Amino acid sequence: MTRLSVIGTGYLGVTHSVCMASLGHEVVALDKDPEKILALAVGKMPFHEPELPEMLTSALASGKLSFTTEFKQIAEQADIHFLCVGTPQSDDSGAADLSQIKSAVAELAPLLTKPCLVIGKSTVPVGTAKWISDYFAENSPAGSEVHVVWNPEFLREGFAVQDTLHPDRVVLGITHEADVDILKEVYADALTAETPLIVTDYATAELVKVAANAFLATKISFINSFADLADKVGADVATLADAIGHDTRIGRKFLNAGIGFGGGCLPKDIRALQARATELGLSEQFAFLKNVDAVNQSRRTHVVELARKELGSLSGKTITILGAAFKPDSDDIRDSPALDIALALADGGATVQLHDPVALPQVRARKLPVKAIDDVSEAFAGADLVLHLTEWQNYRELNPEKLGQTVKTKRIIDGRNVLDRNLWSNAGWQITYLGKPGS
Ligand code: UGA
Repeated sequence: MTRLSVIGTGYLGVTHSVCMASLGHEVVALDKDPEKILALAVGKMPFHEPELPEMLTSALASGKLSFTTEFKQIAEQADIHFLCVGTPQSDDSGAADLSQIKSAVAELAPLLTKPCLVIGKSTVPVGTAKWISDYFAENSPAGSEVHVVWNPEFLREGFAVQDTLHPDRVVLGITHEADVDILKEVYADALTAETPLIVTDYATAELVKVAANAFLATKISFINSFADLADKVGADVATLADAIGHDTRIGRKFLNAGIGFGGGCLPKDIRALQARATELGLSEQFAFLKNVDAVNQSRRTHVVELARKELGSLSGKTITILGAAFKPDSDDIRDSPALDIALALADGGATVQLHDPVALPQVRARKLPVKAIDDVSEAFAGADLVLHLTEWQNYRELNPEKLGQTVKTKRIIDGRNVLDRNLWSNAGWQITYLGKPGS
């Protein structure tokens, strides 16, 4: 087994280090934040992700996983370094902020005295891998013996372990053929004979990641545009999605209409891609992504307007919101459509009673003007309107009959189009969907 380091303990870094340790590798994970490292070292997860807490505990117990804040330690201990730091959106433009990448590379380079691999997994603008490779060649004692491989990550929050241990493809951007065999060995237990392995150049590997996320975002805004059209003409967008999805060239996945996409990836990645394309003189070719973004943002204002229409005025009204996370099985509230809608309603004068199965600590930490309520039944009390905005499985299993007794008016907007119409309307609720006839 190989000695690995993982630089950055965000979503990607924690998942990758724990999963690599579970495959039997010796892993040391680094972060500059000592508090984070101390917590991880005693098995405390910084975010909610199914399966990971138990895996972190057993990786620590097995002695395969350790944590550090010292670059010197990882340079001495590991031969393969995975670069997993964040590339958030810059404040001033849509471009990616590469400061964490640059700082990690600058700290690591002077310490690399022997041949080694640096595997880039962060999502970066095309051209970054070559820059990193050149930087190590010029600034490391090992010079060109430091090989960079670009190996984008496709994991989804909520399925992070499954996506890491059973990837649906592995992409390697390389400059030295022999590095492929090393990576095949590292990932041996995660690869099957059927796992597609795409070996290519740096630029293609970098683009595969941003192209995938841009395509997924486009699919969502595409179907959401049809949701608006369906509302105008009384059609059903979900049936439309099912029907076009049977065409295998189109596929049914990521055609769920609703309040749109959020999170730490899709929104910032489409903006970074536009910024990079513009730098390369291709702003017109990528202008469609501006539209994808605009359609997505308009989903949020659309739902706020629907609520206003239902209630006449928001002022003095009580609105229950089901869901704060940007998607189910995650406590991530970054750019969450649900939370954005909650805040806009509070801003409009409504009292917002917000429930989420796991994300409420993050909401409370931000001291937002909403009432975070742990008990879902309590969150319904006195509501003039209920909005279902993050499709947690347990919201589908709610008892509308019982909950109807605690609200002021039995009125619900399903921003994710998944609640059972018969169940809710038979219990006397008026249910409104986005892009399909309600009751
Ligand atoms: C996304 C990609 O799916 C991953 O492949 C990628 O690795 C990851 O970004 C990343 O770049 O790190 P993630 O952000 O976890 O993963 O979330 P998704 O499952 O893609 O969902 C994104 C958003 O789209 C959510 O808000 C979800 O509710 C929304 N969505 C998804 C829809 O509105 N409709 C759909 O049909 C599907």
